[in-house]
Amino acid sequence: FSCAAAHVQRNPAYSVLNSDDVSYFKSILGESGVVQDEDRVAVSNVDWMGKYKGSSQLLLLPKSTAEVSKILSYCNSRRLAVVPQGGNTGLVGGSVPVYDEVNGILTCEAGCVLENLSSFVENKGFIMPLDLGAKGSCHIGGNISTNAGGLRFIRYGSLHGSVLGLEVVLSDGTVLDMLTTLRKDNTGYDLKHLFIGSEGSLGIVTKVAILTPAKLPSTNVAFLSCNDYISCQVWIGGSFLGSVALYLHVYVILKIKLLLAARRCLGEILSAFEFMDRHCINLAMKYLEGVHNPLPASPYNFYVLIETTGSDESYDKAKLEAFLLRSMEDGLVADGVIAQDISQASNFWRIREGISEASVKVGAVYKYDLSIPVEKLYDIVEEMRNRVGDMGQVLGYGHLGDGNLHLNILSTKYSDKMLAQIEPFVYEWTSKQRGSISAEHGLGLMKAEKIHYSKSSEAVQLMASIKKLLDPNSILNPYKVLPQSVL
Ligand code: FAD
Ligand code: MLT
Ligand code: ZN
Repeated sequence: FSCAAAHVQRNPAYSVLNSDDVSYFKSILGESGVVQDEDRVAVSNVDWMGKYKGSSQLLLLPKSTAEVSKILSYCNSRRLAVVPQGGNTGLVGGSVPVYDEVNGILTCEAGCVLENLSSFVENKGFIMPLDLGAKGSCHIGGNISTNAGGLRFIRYGSLHGSVLGLEVVLSDGTVLDMLTTLRKDNTGYDLKHLFIGSEGSLGIVTKVAILTPAKLPSTNVAFLSCNDYISCQVWIGGSFLGSVALYLHVYVILKIKLLLAARRCLGEILSAFEFMDRHCINLAMKYLEGVHNPLPASPYNFYVLIETTGSDESYDKAKLEAFLLRSMEDGLVADGVIAQDISQASNFWRIREGISEASVKVGAVYKYDLSIPVEKLYDIVEEMRNRVGDMGQVLGYGHLGDGNLHLNILSTKYSDKMLAQIEPFVYEWTSKQRGSISAEHGLGLMKAEKIHYSKSSEAVQLMASIKKLLDPNSILNPYKVLPQSVL
């Protein structure tokens, strides 16, 4: 693997692929399941951002659990390294769904694209418990393996809660059937949790059983702006003012107040609370086609997208309108608009979901995905802006309702000078707050060596023991997740 900022030395313990290996794979998968075409393989060797480049020589397209099992069993015996890949939308370096309509449980293969699953269950009156900007490409197997969070997390929680069962193929080809659809099952250790979020390092997920919430008839989306520091002054009272730091602090309190108010006033119908700063809006307006700023009257510092989902159209809308009015009266919100139709609602969501797409158009993106106590969440963005100066553009956005900040630093090209301004500062700062350096994207290649900023050495040692137990030849997703020194 190599990337603009790091180069990984190949571990000589792995075998080198030869023509006998290719013949064996063809005997299992047929000609069409074994891709050697350099251009096609090259696509799978580069991540979504174009930042990390692998050097795999072969792409295998298994269609069944049995095929995955045979591949792994062979690779393990030959000590050939394997990188599991779903939709390849990860940001850190076939498909037959079955449905239980009474209990709302979907059972499907790992290669199902999230958006296709959403359409499938929506036709039956349910929704997927997760939604993300990459839905058109990412696979449910990839979602499980990264424990993707996304835009509905505030309402439906983590995949650790929604996933009821998994089928996983271990590194030696053993098929581990944990594909239960039971809501309650306390018989021994709940092993599926080991594979949720383990980024393909412990096994390959081949089937998934997942709980899907009912699709509710009324959805409303509001786009709000929060005042700048001068308006905060009015709210908090002039005598408190004095320093920039205090302004910032006051501002953050204001934002948290809005989140608390939303939780209290909207309660059970709140289904998304996303935020972005004005730099994100400017970027979205510049690079995303067909979107427009819903609140163009004035350039505000922050924008919040709130979605409600409930069962009573007029009651839900009245609730959101009352919340918006009250928040404006209380000075929490400067301006706001509720989408009047689907096209307005899509425009609001397109802005929020399109930030990552707009970011990569600038050239180089240094991407950080942090969990930080909400009251400190924006401090790191401001601190980073000071550190980076005019070398780059710093964006802060994310899932504020979950305490999850996406910090993106944009530049026209990758440089060591820029990286030195960002790292290790960003990790040290997050560690000091007892935050997480990977809230929802995983560690991947990018942060495998940084895990200690968020996990104790005892925890990392235990993870290494589990890895050695399940994948003694370390063939699964080499160089990712855990530091090389513990393996
Ligand atoms: P891939 O990128 O192919 O793989 C990701 C990891 O999972 C790799 O380590 C891979 O080895 C492993 N893997 C894949 N499939 C399997 C399998 N079947 N078994 C075992 N291991 C496997 N993430 C969020 O959490 N929240 C978001 O809101 C979000 N929004 C995004 C928006 C955009 C525009 C983009 C590009 C990405 C976004 N992501 C988000 C990141 C990414 O989409 C998720 O991590 C997604 O879950 C990855 O799925 P994938 O199928 O593309 O996996
Ligand atoms: C998001 O919330 O938009 C995604 O996690 C992607 C990103 O971090 O850019
Ligand atoms: Zn996200």
